[in-house]
Amino acid sequence: MKIIKVKDKIEGSQKAFEIMTESMANGSKVFGLATGSTPTELYKNFRESDVDFSNMISINLDEYVGLDENDEQSYRTFMKQQLFGEKPFKMSYVPNGKASDLEEEAKRYDAIIQEHPIDIQILGLGTNGHIGFNEPGTPFESTTHVVQLTNSTIQANKRFFEKEEDVPTTAVSMGIDSIFGAKEILLMAWGEDKAPAVKAMIEGEINEDMPASILQKHNDVVVIIDEAAASLL
Ligand code: GLP
Repeated sequence: MKIIKVKDKIEGSQKAFEIMTESMANGSKVFGLATGSTPTELYKNFRESDVDFSNMISINLDEYVGLDENDEQSYRTFMKQQLFGEKPFKMSYVPNGKASDLEEEAKRYDAIIQEHPIDIQILGLGTNGHIGFNEPGTPFESTTHVVQLTNSTIQANKRFFEKEEDVPTTAVSMGIDSIFGAKEILLMAWGEDKAPAVKAMIEGEINEDMPASILQKHNDVVVIIDEAAASLL
């Protein structure tokens, strides 16, 4: 793991932007994208740049079950607002949380990932160490699957919803193995809430109770953290 410590999210997102555009210059054609508050500054950097994604493919990590893609709170809507609206890709994949057969949807999504291997995958980090929506205890060999969200994730994500009851309890997420297959992984974490998970991910045992710890085994991972997130290292 290559660890880059920065002052704050602004400096870190600038660094991430440079890494992603360099990856594009080196021929990357498929971006793995994440939602949440962590990558928003990076997406702003892209929106304000002259980069062109029209020959590229994006594949998002996850989507809530039960939300239509046009729902205000869906991750598809989030991505349209943050990036796709202004910087369209040739094709952008997000799991369909309204699929009538979610198991089939997970298989379909894995086939998409196989057809378009991810060159560089952006990740945020859950306070409990989750990546995508792979909660503690998820097998490392998991591919795309249906996930029951933990209470801590529901609590962390309720800020995006009007009421806690509105937060979906289920999601479709790329699995740990699907994420691990990316050629390059770029994980970002900001703020002191992430410090314990950052420490466990980098210095802890590789253990399914800390999903992000598997990244210690990947041969091309860059972790960008601000001072607060790095404070327990
Ligand atoms: C969410 C998402 C993850 C994200 C993480 C951190 O639940 N499924 O992809 O990385 O939690 O969220 P945030 O960036 O808002 O801290």
